[in-house]
Amino acid sequence: MSELEGRFFLCKVSDLVEGEPRKFVVHGSDVLLLKLDGKIHAVEPMCSHDGTDISRGKFSQHSGTLECPKHYAVFDVRSGTPLRGPFGADGDTQPPLRVYRFKIDSGRIMLEANQEWGVIPQYT
Ligand code: FES
Repeated sequence: MSELEGRFFLCKVSDLVEGEPRKFVVHGSDVLLLKLDGKIHAVEPMCSHDGTDISRGKFSQHSGTLECPKHYAVFDVRSGTPLRGPFGADGDTQPPLRVYRFKIDSGRIMLEANQEWGVIPQYT
């Protein structure tokens, strides 16, 4: 990973495999990349219920969802939207996952350093 003009290079698009989420740590911030139907998605893999790392949760390519391994909340990885809360509760009561902005530049996935909800620390 390296920083270039306010963006962080994570990996090449060709490095990602459909159905195999890949986690990166950018200065203490976790970023989970997922390839779904040929499109890349980037979320913070921290469950909005109790902070569990959901990078090893159950990822369904069929529905495009990631299930928290602790209390089974389910999130749409395309938008971060909660579809189900913990223990099957209504998803409306669950905050969404944070979704990262990124660009694809010459086949490279470049994470935007400045995100709407905060700033990923830059190299000094
Ligand atoms: S920590 Fe994920 S549903 Fe409770």
